[in-house]
Amino acid sequence: MRFTVAIDGPAASGKGTIARALAARFGFAHLDTGLLYRATGLRAAEAGIDPAAAAASLREADLARPDLRGAEAAEAASRVAALPEVRDALLVFQRNFAAREGGAVLDGRDIGTVICPDAEVKIFVVASPEERARRRHAEFVAAGDPRTLAEVAEDLRIRDERDAGRAAAPLKPGAGARLLDTTEMSIDAAVAQAARWINEQL
Ligand code: C5P
Repeated sequence: MRFTVAIDGPAASGKGTIARALAARFGFAHLDTGLLYRATGLRAAEAGIDPAAAAASLREADLARPDLRGAEAAEAASRVAALPEVRDALLVFQRNFAAREGGAVLDGRDIGTVICPDAEVKIFVVASPEERARRRHAEFVAAGDPRTLAEVAEDLRIRDERDAGRAAAPLKPGAGARLLDTTEMSIDAAVAQAARWINEQL
């Protein structure tokens, strides 16, 4: 069976957590596509190579680096993600992942618009900027990162603006996407709502 769930949304909206939980619940494979851009950004900076070349030569080991979740990787990702040649280099891998037997959940910024416009279920996850900053800050605190809430909020604001304002695959809902506002929702409630949408299409 082929079945694709496309989940998009801004940073710290909850899309990654929801995607992981849905994949576990339905037995689907999960791809956090942000990791591809994060690994590309870090590799290009470190190796001093062209970002498109870094994207084209990504290896499994690059995606397993422990520093991919950090603020530096996020910033590098959002810069290289604005380059169409980087997005092109990562497209086939994502499409193949989505088409695998047994179902797939992909989360990112352009899954419902560019990567999988024909996904069986598309979900656009949002939350208020304040709530997203609070969540991301809590993650950093847990990881021992000393940045303040105000700094985290400003980083998110800059990154969201760049992701939504760029010409190449800007962040926006795909046609027919369902809107899931998690500002005042528990993770469990958000996952339950998304699971209902998937069950309607299965
Ligand atoms: O989702 P995450 O925060 O890991 O993504 C890091 C950056 O990678 C985003 O800010 C965005 O610029 C880029 N990205 C993208 N398209 C995707 C996934 C991530 O442009 N499908």
